Amino acid sequence: RGAEGGSADLAGRHVVVSAGGTREPLDPVRFLGNRSSGKQGYALARTAVARGARVTLVAANTDLADPAGADVVRVGTAVQLREAVLKAASDADAVVMAAAVADFRPATYAAGKIKKREGQEPAPVELVRNPDVLAELAADRPHAGQVVVGFAAETDDVLANGRAKLARKGCDLLVVNEVGERRTFGSEENEAVVLAADGTETPVPYGPKEALADVVWDLVARRW
Ligand code: CTP
Ligand code: CA
Repeated sequence: RGAEGGSADLAGRHVVVSAGGTREPLDPVRFLGNRSSGKQGYALARTAVARGARVTLVAANTDLADPAGADVVRVGTAVQLREAVLKAASDADAVVMAAAVADFRPATYAAGKIKKREGQEPAPVELVRNPDVLAELAADRPHAGQVVVGFAAETDDVLANGRAKLARKGCDLLVVNEVGERRTFGSEENEAVVLAADGTETPVPYGPKEALADVVWDLVARRW
């Protein structure tokens, strides 16, 4: 493998990775966002480059150094992320959705800054659904050989929730993290189980995000 052995087992392949977290603007100075750092997505991009792939990284609001050798497309909102990912996916052999995509966005965008008024309660923020990029990718593949991978952070019944989500999304692989104490956003490490549509489960022990990324690429390569 590229990471260890220096072999380029992903050579000739184009892979698309989304990373970071979308921000959904309320007005010119405010947004609804999430705490995704983008580190897992960047690790996926770096390891894919190291293994010889052509890599498009769609980065949503990240503050990390561009991975050398990857084409980086910067986006802000879920709608922008959808457009960039679908465009890059048209000739891709795999798409990995590591980004935290906001499920909802404010129904309206105020062109001017929202002001408070003396003696007035704030107006409630009305939200609307964002498109589900992963489900759309899995449903409309440009070619049958394209492998589609999702990520999910779950609590409680982690594996059962993961299985149900994998089926609902229609993707080939779902990387499931348990959200808990030491598994904080922004950390350098991760622990996960990779669930596959064929029923297999691959546990990945707590360790660097690169190690999880290499397992994901191994499982993707096996499906090509
Ligand atoms: N995802 C996406 N588009 C969305 C929401 C999520 O493409 N609008 C992708 C994420 O990038 C991730 C996967 O779907 O790879 C799972 O995200 P998650 O938030 O766990 O799934 P949801 O279906 O939104 O379920 P939940 O209600 O638990 O948030
Ligand atoms: Ca969600």
